[in-house]
Amino acid sequence: MVKLMDGTKLAVEIRENVRRDVQNLCKTGIEVGLALLLAGDNSASCSYFNATVKISKSVGINVFEYKLPTDVSLNEILNIVSSINADERINGLLVLFPLPKRINPRRVVNAIVPDKDVDGLGSVSVGRLSAEESMFQLFGKEFAGSQHIVQKTADFSICTSQSFLPCTPFGVIRLLEYYGVDIVGKNAVVIGKSLAVGKPLSMMLLAKEATVSVCHKSTANLKDYLINADIVCSATGMPGLITGDMIKEGAIVVDIGINVQQNGKIIGDIDFNSVAKKASLITPVPGGVGPVTIATLLENTVRSAKSNALLNNPLLLH
Ligand SMILES: NC(=O)c1ccc[n+]([C@@H]2O[C@H](COP(=O)([O-])OP(=O)(O)OC[C@H]3O[C@@H](n4cnc5c(N)ncnc54)[C@H](OP(=O)(O)O)[C@@H]3O)[C@@H](O)[C@H]2O)c1
Repeated sequence: MVKLMDGTKLAVEIRENVRRDVQNLCKTGIEVGLALLLAGDNSASCSYFNATVKISKSVGINVFEYKLPTDVSLNEILNIVSSINADERINGLLVLFPLPKRINPRRVVNAIVPDKDVDGLGSVSVGRLSAEESMFQLFGKEFAGSQHIVQKTADFSICTSQSFLPCTPFGVIRLLEYYGVDIVGKNAVVIGKSLAVGKPLSMMLLAKEATVSVCHKSTANLKDYLINADIVCSATGMPGLITGDMIKEGAIVVDIGINVQQNGKIIGDIDFNSVAKKASLITPVPGGVGPVTIATLLENTVRSAKSNALLNNPLLLH
């Protein structure tokens, strides 16, 4: 019988921890601030922007809103990013994608200082993930069991620079672990190789000792990969791409896709009904990865505030 991986339940728990952390920081006079930058009027971005503002405020995080017109220039955006970098009240910056077509998104994310790159998409953050320097966050609580992971975490401890894991793929790992999935040694297939989701997710699963295949548009015979997969994670934006006949009996299926249908209904990449007949665990859409993504962003922002507070006042360590 298939079991649902309920992202809303995990997100509520993460948000409660964030709220407690924000309150504790407030008691020592430290406020937590998150900046959100939206350029243009993409409807999906606008609703994500509004949802993030609402949830951030509900846990006591101060929100700094930057809503810019579609014809904003790269120069104007870079100036705003630069002022956010220098603003001590702001601990993290989330840039909403897609940006207007004229704007090179890599110029924008790479302008964010790594300490405030709470969505972990800048080249420095991505590089640290590839170089296994973000292991502390990935293995924070459960590294005790594996000698190999102890070594990775020890390696991290000599690397003092701060960086964050991208929220959506890290949210997927959080969700899998919350539902007791042991990733070590599993065959994992990631469909999609974007910088924001597929590629970092494949690196995180690899760091967790899965055997990982990454599929994309040019992959011939997707089913050949999926049929042997213990864990399937799809992030393509192609509704109905994966059907039950492509999935191994008992597979764990994570649907990251968000596709808004003409009637306003949101569906994922997975044909839920047929896949649920074969899978042992599956995420719903909505209510799966989405809520965990926002909760992870807030958690990263608080982590940034804590390390900034320590930098400003090392006595807090004692
Ligand atoms: N739940 C959340 O919190 C969350 C967060 C972010 C994104 N999303 C959703 O996740 C989905 C992917 O987002 P993204 O930003 O990664 O999108 P993206 O940048 O457009 O990347 C899509 C990826 O899917 C691959 N792909 C497209 N069609 C395919 C097919 N028929 N077979 C195999 N691979 C195919 C593409 O391959 P090529 O590289 O070869 O083109 C690409 O790597 C979207 O629906 C988005 O809305 C959800």
